[in-house]
Amino acid sequence: MSDFEKRVVQARRKWNLIQESKIPVIYVGTATCGIAAGALDVVKSVRQTLKETGIKARLVQVGCIGPCYLEPLMDIVVPGRPRISYGPVNSRSARTIIERYLIEGNPASDLAVGHFSTNGNAPDSIPRFFDIPMLKPQVRVVLRNCGFIDPDDIDHYLANDGYRGLTKALGMTPEEVIAVVKEAGLRGRGGAGFPTFKKWEICRGAPGTTKYMICNSSEGDPGAFMNRALIESDPHCVLEGLLIAAYAIGADHGYIYINSDYLLAIARLKSAVKQMRQYGLLGQHILDSGFSFDVTIKEGAGAFVCGEETALIGSIEGRRGMPKARPPFPAIAGLFGKPTIINNVETLGTLPNIMRHGASWYRQFGIQGNYGTKTFSLVGKVRRGGLIEVPLGIKLREIIFDIGGGTWRKFKAVQTGGPSGGCLSEEFLDIQVAYESMTAAGSIMGSGGMIVMDEDTCAVDLALYFLNFTQKESCGKCSPCRVGTWQMVKILENIVKGQADSADIARLQTLAEAVQRVSLCGLGQTAPNPVLTTLRYFRGEYLQHVNEKYCAATICKELVEYFIEPGKCNGCQQCIRVCPTEAISGAKTEPHTIDLSRCIKCKACFEVCRFDPLAANAIVMRSERRAS
Ligand SMILES: Cc1cc2nc3c(=O)[nH]c(=O)nc-3n(C[C@H](O)[C@H](O)[C@H](O)COP(=O)(O)O)c2cc1C
Ligand code: SF4
Ligand code: SF4
Repeated sequence: MSDFEKRVVQARRKWNLIQESKIPVIYVGTATCGIAAGALDVVKSVRQTLKETGIKARLVQVGCIGPCYLEPLMDIVVPGRPRISYGPVNSRSARTIIERYLIEGNPASDLAVGHFSTNGNAPDSIPRFFDIPMLKPQVRVVLRNCGFIDPDDIDHYLANDGYRGLTKALGMTPEEVIAVVKEAGLRGRGGAGFPTFKKWEICRGAPGTTKYMICNSSEGDPGAFMNRALIESDPHCVLEGLLIAAYAIGADHGYIYINSDYLLAIARLKSAVKQMRQYGLLGQHILDSGFSFDVTIKEGAGAFVCGEETALIGSIEGRRGMPKARPPFPAIAGLFGKPTIINNVETLGTLPNIMRHGASWYRQFGIQGNYGTKTFSLVGKVRRGGLIEVPLGIKLREIIFDIGGGTWRKFKAVQTGGPSGGCLSEEFLDIQVAYESMTAAGSIMGSGGMIVMDEDTCAVDLALYFLNFTQKESCGKCSPCRVGTWQMVKILENIVKGQADSADIARLQTLAEAVQRVSLCGLGQTAPNPVLTTLRYFRGEYLQHVNEKYCAATICKELVEYFIEPGKCNGCQQCIRVCPTEAISGAKTEPHTIDLSRCIKCKACFEVCRFDPLAANAIVMRSERRAS
């Protein structure tokens, strides 16, 4: 038996000790989403409760299982009973649940989200976790381990067929590995959907013996966290994918280029890399094969443009992250002038699954030409936000309404692909989520950011928000992007202030099309997408802003005024206290009034009137239609 196989046996033993534990096991999700919701307080409370009550139980910290809206999530397994998930919990309810379940024997069904039983031995009052509406339509390929294994323990990964894809790949020739990936139909998950095998083939065939493999974990777009969550929850699946890709293209060194803000993901990667070295999974003659490989974790400053391949390469080389004209493509002349492949985190995380199960297994998911699954970070005005994985070809409606539970107020639009993507209106809810159909609709698949909007969102303000982002992130190398996006921002600012006319809308459109056509890199080429799609699907809103100085969503500050409804105001004076300009007056218990000449539209009174228990929700924002 090889050293690696011995390690696997040991790892399975260790894993089984948890699965067949004689004492209860408590799992807490401590990826960034859980931590942001208070998971570390829950961990503290669990430890304290166990200490104070004398209950013997094992605590395991896991990654993100997906439904971030239910974070922090805590699961409990009592020996012989199925795992039950509870959420959202806090330090107090965690204690209550532990006491009820582990002392009184009551599984606290009223606080449970779901169970993980497959043999019917769970309480009837608790649904199966994977049958709850958010999870049911999902398929977990890349995310299979997320929320189940301890991401800091390589043995958990090994016990769950970890590095089996690599051992299989090492038993094949690199050309055979590329053929499997070709047959699987895998397309790059970083956004453009380029067939993975194609660029690998080019790189493998490129002259020279030094080649590089890079994992793109830049993820600089607002609203996107899929790649971070995967690394935080299952770092080894990405590293295994990196090794498989490196073997296929003939690289002996790789880089993981990661946003330096991703502190937890970086820590987990570092710990994973250290364990890989101990287990002979990095270095010379990996697993006694002829394949040698090592990896460097390179922290970038988080600039959006550094997600672009040539800028990313520049950043690793120590230059300013600025895109270069292509060709030559990195697959021919990339890092330090050598043939280089850059793949997205999710693309790499998918590879071990394809290698383990085979191409035809992978092709059972998705639709023709768009095989497999895709992760998304589902955020915005959706009821059930979180990290999801769905088969390609699923309809947008299923993602937003079946998985996400729809919006609190009337659905308006969805922005796919982040700032490079487009804003799709209700009429597109039944399109299939596939590379070509998203592009045909004027948006892009992107790397997985999906932001849902309701009727309280102003389409013009949204376009301005995204364009402001890309304008600030423009590296400034080429004038269409540097100057064009700046001019577009100025026009949009005038529109939201009610200081534009209809000729400005035409100018905006022409400029957007020009920037899209002639910018040097993908940032500039896609920056106009939010503007062009909102102009296409929400043109009426642009016209209202321009012709009637009217913002239906009451978002555009200059077109909104604040009033107090006298019949509703109870004179509690909460608003007077928060108003920074002393614009509000009125005696206690008498209806108040706002002096509009002093109001700076800071929204403080509106917020306090809505959320203070004393106040009466009497302050309204109004946008009046005016003739231009
Ligand atoms: C402005 C810009 C930002 C990008 N950001 C990312 C990113 O954060 N992650 C990513 O994988 N790809 C990003 N890309 C796409 C990459 O340049 C590249 O196509 C991708 O990493 C290739 O991997 P794939 O073939 O596995 O999709 C970005 C592209 C542009 C133009
Ligand atoms: S399109 Fe924008 S980000 Fe890209 S090279 Fe030109 S200025 Fe830089
Ligand atoms: S919006 Fe701000 S400035 Fe205007 S009345 Fe309310 S609190 Fe005062």
